[in-house]
Amino acid sequence: MISPEAVQFFLMLLRKESGLALDESKKYLLETRLEPLAAQEGYASINDLYMAVRNTNNSLLRQEVVDAMTTNETSFFRDRMPFDIFKNEVIPDLIKRNERSRRIRIWCAACSTGQEPYSLAMELASMSAKMPGWNIKILGTDITEAVLKKAREGTYSQHDIQRGLPTPYLIRFFKQSGMNWVLNSDLKRMVEFKRLNLLSNFSWIGQFDIVFCRNILIYFDVETKKTVIGRIGGVLAPHGALFLGGSETLLGIDNPFVRAGGMKGKYYHLNGAPAPVR
Ligand SMILES: C[S@@+](CC[C@H](N)C(=O)[O-])C[C@H]1O[C@@H](n2cnc3c(N)ncnc32)[C@H](O)[C@@H]1O
Repeated sequence: MISPEAVQFFLMLLRKESGLALDESKKYLLETRLEPLAAQEGYASINDLYMAVRNTNNSLLRQEVVDAMTTNETSFFRDRMPFDIFKNEVIPDLIKRNERSRRIRIWCAACSTGQEPYSLAMELASMSAKMPGWNIKILGTDITEAVLKKAREGTYSQHDIQRGLPTPYLIRFFKQSGMNWVLNSDLKRMVEFKRLNLLSNFSWIGQFDIVFCRNILIYFDVETKKTVIGRIGGVLAPHGALFLGGSETLLGIDNPFVRAGGMKGKYYHLNGAPAPVR
């Protein structure tokens, strides 16, 4: 059984390194996720893992603890509605707004194994006739290198495919390889993946027309949410759109965003709706 000191240590470590705000009621989660890691790393128990992490400067082991505790749940076109709004409202608006630069930049913060940015890439590829010659880049970032590796490979199991991917997109964008499905290289090339901790100061990453930051804020405390959302405001273009997860809200957090699209989907503009384009 995990000792009270180990519980306190891991809760503090997770909050500091990844923003994951758990309390003691989630002791079972520490046990179910860190016991396998302890065994894999050759420690007799989770308490021995705690001693090892506490007493060494082994940053790799710390990272493994953080990685083991992250929830990487994702799927293609998760919740569907944000992707419809993306395709039917936000991109058509950008086609007018960015007519001169013919450039669109999208960031999927906390993209896990890549289904979210690739869903956006598939929607954009299916609209390519409306935007010939446009320069479109999608950046996918996550704190965990293992999920980014899978995202870069673009290879998904039958189970991954069955969760949300429309059949016409499967036929058009994937090839079967044994039991798996491999995304085609044109689609893969639309997305670049990088490791990025949302707790870090990411003001260097550039400016984006659209940010998807979905199903990650729920794990943060109010202060961390406020900091991360404020920084996202700093890298979003003035007309930009921010998409959050279905159960996430900015209520009660001092922030520069105003909800758009009525009750249809969780998306926001900076300081209210941008002036319409002619
Ligand atoms: C539940 S998944 C959400 C994936 C996708 N956005 C979606 O909605 O389907 C949350 C992801 O956030 C990542 N994550 C956790 N803490 C993070 C942090 N501090 N910075 C960046 N990513 C983080 C996890 O590794 C995980 O892949």
